[in-house]
Amino acid sequence: MAVHEIHHPLVRHKIGLAREADTSTKKFRELTAEIGRLLAYEACQDFPLEKVTIAGWCGPVEIEQIKGKKVTVVPILRAGIGMLDGVLDMIPNAKISVVGLARNEETLQPVPYFEKFVGDLAERTALIIDPMLATGGSMVATVDMLKRAGCRHIKALVLVAAPEGLQLMQDKHPDVEIYTAAIDSHLNEHGYIIPGLGDAGDKIFGTK
Ligand code: URA
Repeated sequence: MAVHEIHHPLVRHKIGLAREADTSTKKFRELTAEIGRLLAYEACQDFPLEKVTIAGWCGPVEIEQIKGKKVTVVPILRAGIGMLDGVLDMIPNAKISVVGLARNEETLQPVPYFEKFVGDLAERTALIIDPMLATGGSMVATVDMLKRAGCRHIKALVLVAAPEGLQLMQDKHPDVEIYTAAIDSHLNEHGYIIPGLGDAGDKIFGTK
């Protein structure tokens, strides 16, 4: 499985700011969107191009455009919504598919409660967005759902990844490329990433 930890100075700077304990909701939301934008830029690097001829100001001109069906961005509710605007800044024509997962308190496994996918998934690249790849359970479940729906080309964009989540993705879905601003140390006993960001959903939505 390819894991891309992005070393661009803007990404390093912004993920550092996002770690500050007393960052305001506004600032955290802005940083989440900004890092989402930069991760989307990186994730599109290998998109195939095709040449087309258009009417330019002085006559026909050959240009390049991204080939194939439009990308679908897949926010995992609820924290994934925080990265959506940033990703759409880079890929404004993207279609949006949404996944909602709840945790079964007995099995601790993620259970889908919402799934709304765009059509033609077999012909689209899906970019899953979720700020935190912690245990990896939600990400694995989302990839399972997308693959069941026919999607074959999937990437995941996360602000911070834990080694445990990366390992689970390697075991279950080694074909999925992961783009992250940081690979952190480990999960604590409550499943939080250390040093991580804290509860990304609460920080984006201003809840506690
Ligand atoms: N979800 C979060 O929001 N933060 C973590 O550290 C782990 C999961």
